[in-house]
Amino acid sequence: MSDSNQSVSTKIEGKKASFKGRKLRIAVVGCGGIANYHMETYRKIENAEVVAGCDIVRDRLDRMRDKWGVPENALFIDGSQKPWRAMLAAMKGKIDAVDVCTPNGVHAPAVIDACNAGLHAMTEKPMAMTVKECKDMVAAANRNGVKLAVGFQRRYQDNTQNLARMRAEGFFGDVMLVRVRACRRRGIPNWGVFGQKDKQGGGPLIDIGVHIIESAMAFLGNPTPVYASAGTWTFIGDKPSETMSMWPGWDHKTYTVEDFACGQIRFDNGTIMQIESSFADHQKEHDIQDWWAYGTKAGCQWSTSEIWTDQNRMMVNMAPVFMPECDWDVVFERKLRNWIDGCLNGTPLQASGEIGLNVQKVLCGLYDSAKVGHEIRIR
Ligand SMILES: NC(=O)c1ccc[n+]([C@@H]2O[C@H](COP(=O)([O-])OP(=O)(O)OC[C@H]3O[C@@H](n4cnc5c(N)ncnc54)[C@H](O)[C@@H]3O)[C@@H](O)[C@H]2O)c1
Repeated sequence: MSDSNQSVSTKIEGKKASFKGRKLRIAVVGCGGIANYHMETYRKIENAEVVAGCDIVRDRLDRMRDKWGVPENALFIDGSQKPWRAMLAAMKGKIDAVDVCTPNGVHAPAVIDACNAGLHAMTEKPMAMTVKECKDMVAAANRNGVKLAVGFQRRYQDNTQNLARMRAEGFFGDVMLVRVRACRRRGIPNWGVFGQKDKQGGGPLIDIGVHIIESAMAFLGNPTPVYASAGTWTFIGDKPSETMSMWPGWDHKTYTVEDFACGQIRFDNGTIMQIESSFADHQKEHDIQDWWAYGTKAGCQWSTSEIWTDQNRMMVNMAPVFMPECDWDVVFERKLRNWIDGCLNGTPLQASGEIGLNVQKVLCGLYDSAKVGHEIRIR
């Protein structure tokens, strides 16, 4: 993959002409937690409007109507696990794009159906559950000439963008190692289906690890992963627990994902990425989401933007005096705007389907290696 964050293969020319200055009309698939965050963000974006939604739970649709003003006749639930099909049929010609905010297992079928209906698509992270699903999604977008974006917001943070620019300009020299940690000491979600492997594809690695891995890969210029070696363990989530924690009472009976994953990726440029990710473990910290990079000329820590190097015959540590806060309001607006502008104007996507596919190869490579118990080649 090239040293670029931009999609190279999603075509847009044919679609662009038809917008002529009007808003992008969006339909939301899955109207739960993160969809509400998207709804709040869409309110701030002048060239987009949400005109339809679907879910498999009725009260989610009530909220779309009562809180966000989507008309009842544009809300769909039909008893099937694919309510978007009724929505796509009924809203034909009235929507331009679909925003998929369901559990991971639904991302691929909903995106592929949307692309095949000629609609642009955004899916929340991770892109899907398997590499094959991601390839099928990219192929569907390309075949239909529509834009496909993945909901990675960490790459839009100023610290990610600055460090990535510095690396691309050679400041760090060759990056030898990136250490990624996305670890909660006890933070198993007690809502949704985050503990169910068949619906999510995995646990902390695919759910929270994906964010930190993706931002580190953006820093590295999206190199291609070639080898993976990893292990996964489940030792807390599948049992009842009396230990006090922030989200007690998770459903241990349906818990089939890992509590802890660790492993290593070798990229085609020689960089090694070491990864730790947990919903539950016995680490010191309560919650840590960060990466550290070590280059031949300098190193850095992502969350603090601290930089370590040699200058004037001294080993110096540097930290920016000011780095804009990258709270969710800001980065969600940037990620949705990037997709909307891409759909309306043909501008390049930063988190394209191709980027999502490359990240998925890391996640699935680690899971596949853990399953067989030895290093594997990623294809
Ligand atoms: N970018 C981020 O920081 C971020 C944060 C949280 C969640 N997410 C991602 O967003 C997605 C949803 O997570 P969430 O926290 O909103 O979960 P959630 O459980 O709160 O919401 C999911 C919604 O999808 C609906 N749904 C389930 N199956 C469906 C189907 N077949 N068709 C239509 N709707 C269906 C559910 O009823 C629910 O309303 C996940 O992929 C998650 O990884 C991203």
